[in-house]
Amino acid sequence: DARILSGMQPTSDSLHLGNYLGALTSWVGLQDSYETIYTVVDLHSLTVATDPQLLRERTRRTAAQYLAAGVDPSRSALFVQSHVPEHAQLAWVLSCHTGFGEAARMTQFKDKSARHGNDATNVGLFTYPILMAADILLYDAALVPVGEDQRQHLELTRDLAQRFNARFGQTFVVPEPHIVRATAKIYDLQEPTAKMSKSASSPNGLIELLDDPKVVAKRIRSAVTDAEREIRFDPVAKPGVSNLLTIHSALSGRTVAELEQDYAGRGYGDLKKDLAEVVVGFLEPFQERVHGYLDDPASLDDVLAEGAERVRVVARETLARVYDRVGLLPAR
Ligand code: TYM
Repeated sequence: DARILSGMQPTSDSLHLGNYLGALTSWVGLQDSYETIYTVVDLHSLTVATDPQLLRERTRRTAAQYLAAGVDPSRSALFVQSHVPEHAQLAWVLSCHTGFGEAARMTQFKDKSARHGNDATNVGLFTYPILMAADILLYDAALVPVGEDQRQHLELTRDLAQRFNARFGQTFVVPEPHIVRATAKIYDLQEPTAKMSKSASSPNGLIELLDDPKVVAKRIRSAVTDAEREIRFDPVAKPGVSNLLTIHSALSGRTVAELEQDYAGRGYGDLKKDLAEVVVGFLEPFQERVHGYLDDPASLDDVLAEGAERVRVVARETLARVYDRVGLLPAR
């Protein structure tokens, strides 16, 4: 079976609707046809200063949200990145095959470092995509389900794999991004031309999966639309309305065309009211499941330990192959 790998950073108390619709739902679906590996990338979150106790808690919360979304530990390996030391070890080797300019061209790095300034930007933020490449290449993953914002990082991963293979002989599988077009980019409710993100300027643009449903409903009702009245999917002319239709369609299972028909001649208020119901109807049972997992941290930790044990077999093999290829003297 072809292998799938993906991960999310535990940088917040809750994942948001962009993480869920852009990536997590497709993770769940892929379990039926692939060998799936899903990780909480805690090493990546060290690039953002976080209270240590909070980081531990967020790592468990992120894993609990994977499970609540339908990641099934009997079919998928679910683990915490730092539990498998080979990730950091492979990242070092890959960093020695990454051009400085190549890493400096990553737009997420450019955006983040521009926002923080040079002195507040740590080197981890710069090498971050190389660690991501290691996550993927360590398991010979063929497909990587992510949102649109990770496409450039996947390109770098592919370049590194191809370069390494060309120089040292076939070593890595060259992975493809798996990006679901309809939900590849969920937009901010207040600024519907910017992606939904935890670092948005206003919290009102964000729907977090563990938010109070009342707050969520209110944010949807006050989402930015436009001065027309027509409910029509047109991301260029009507980004706000189109984003609401995308979210509705993804959660209700109705096509955007059906929704356009349903709402013909009706106002934005109706769409928002219905969408709030759809989103809250999804969130309530989701939150209940998350809290169920968090109420039993010992079982959650068991799942994570078992996942790490399973993937570590593969990680060890790949790292040994890489160390051998580049000429490191094997330890006795
Ligand atoms: P992260 O933690 O920022 O985001 C997790 C996933 O959510 C997707 N996403 C979105 N999709 C649609 N609309 C949005 N508004 C939106 N916001 C976020 C992201 O594309 C991602 O799929 N570098 C990665 C984590 C990572 C990783 C990996 C991913 C580390 N190693 C290996 C795949 C494979 C990141 O920061 O994602």
